[in-house]
Amino acid sequence: MAGPTSTAGRAQWSSKAAFILAATGSAVGLGNLWRFPTEAGNNGGGAFVMLYVLCVVLIALPLLLAESLIGRHGQKSTIGSAVQLARQSRASPAWSLMAVIGLIANTAILTFYCVVAGWVVYFIGVSGADLVGAASAGEPLRGAFAERSTDQIREIMPTLFADPALLVGLQLAFVATTVWIVARGVKGGIEKAATWLMPAFFLLLIGITVYAALTGDFAAAATFLFTPDFERALNPAVLSSALGQAFFSLSLGGGAMIAYGAYASRDTNLGQTSGVIAFADTGVAIIAGLAIFPIVFSVGLSPDAGPTLMFQTLPAAFHVMPGGALVGLAFFVLAFFAALTSSVSLLEISVGWITEKFGASRVMASVGVGVLVFLVGLLSALSFNLLADQRPIPFVPGFENANWFDAIDGVTGRLLLPLSGLITAVFIGWVADRKLVDAETGLSGAGLAAWRFLIAWLCPLAVTAILVLGLFPQIL
Ligand code: PFF
Repeated sequence: MAGPTSTAGRAQWSSKAAFILAATGSAVGLGNLWRFPTEAGNNGGGAFVMLYVLCVVLIALPLLLAESLIGRHGQKSTIGSAVQLARQSRASPAWSLMAVIGLIANTAILTFYCVVAGWVVYFIGVSGADLVGAASAGEPLRGAFAERSTDQIREIMPTLFADPALLVGLQLAFVATTVWIVARGVKGGIEKAATWLMPAFFLLLIGITVYAALTGDFAAAATFLFTPDFERALNPAVLSSALGQAFFSLSLGGGAMIAYGAYASRDTNLGQTSGVIAFADTGVAIIAGLAIFPIVFSVGLSPDAGPTLMFQTLPAAFHVMPGGALVGLAFFVLAFFAALTSSVSLLEISVGWITEKFGASRVMASVGVGVLVFLVGLLSALSFNLLADQRPIPFVPGFENANWFDAIDGVTGRLLLPLSGLITAVFIGWVADRKLVDAETGLSGAGLAAWRFLIAWLCPLAVTAILVLGLFPQIL
């Protein structure tokens, strides 16, 4: 959610529930629906899911609390709040480096996020036209895309990719929507929207999952996702993908959670809210996996189909589902809003800082960053056609074959977000004033001791190990 326009008498979420919903709105998005299944599919399923859940509980959850408390304590932009806590702890303001890295990483994430959200917009159009067709045939409750064969449904994505102008137009539409919301700083609007749309989204997703489970190959999906594969789990690439996904999905890495924590009221128990947000986010990812993989196996797609996986499987389910034309449209509309509540938080990070630091208006800052995001995003939008042959970082291990899209996604998720998280963990665990920090957590007794151990020891050691292994896989 975008923050209020003025910093005087700094505004707050209207309730604790509103904070949880907005933060969950940031966390739940394309990361759960699109990126989690893609990564799980690319990294062998069970090994990845097991590591992912471990990373969420042991690393991301403690960091979620650390980031939100930095924000709530500072009540400023991400960088401003980090500088403030450092100063009050008599530490160097250079510790705010994590928020600087976070700002860069999250703005880079926004560049390709808007591209994928553009694909969602496309499916809203295609599904909308389909529903109109169904209704005018007098059968509004028929399955989606009745006129197409299963193969033709799978061809929707390749057809879209073959049209660079359309892809860029869709990307631009989504960037513009995000800019519009952040520029207005509409606390009320998005807060209210999140209050209705997030629960509606949960319910619809559960319904689709039950359907996919009943009609698709649920057994194969469950085996694929939940059979732990300890050997594969030691593969550095799988490990660093799982950590990156935990950061990405929970909106961690020096950004959104600091920004949103800054609008949380004093009486919000951040320890509790962090737990709720992490649980909801992980739940949605697993449920999305259980909606998508039964279809992957029943229609004979390969789990490692890559970024198009979600867009090739779900329409196939809507095709055979009674009322699928309607359900399909509803799903893509809600996915659009889930993406929007995340993209708004991504943009808010830089806009909050620019308005605070340079006194620029929200409109100027949002439009300025929006233009930059759009232009850099062209690299990702065109990675599937005009720039498909470019390999921007062949010298980085694991990225030899990555196009622009995969390179920006991979470098931000697997390197920059964890790096920022590492600095945050050391800062909060070792450097920041202990009394100040502990008082912000809302934890006490064993809970506080456990969190202290995780943030001071486990997070820094595990994240360093995974970062090093990700860069130098030959060590293992
Ligand atoms: N967590 C969002 C998602 O899963 O779609 C993406 C995201 C939002 C990442 C905000 C980082 C961030 F700061």
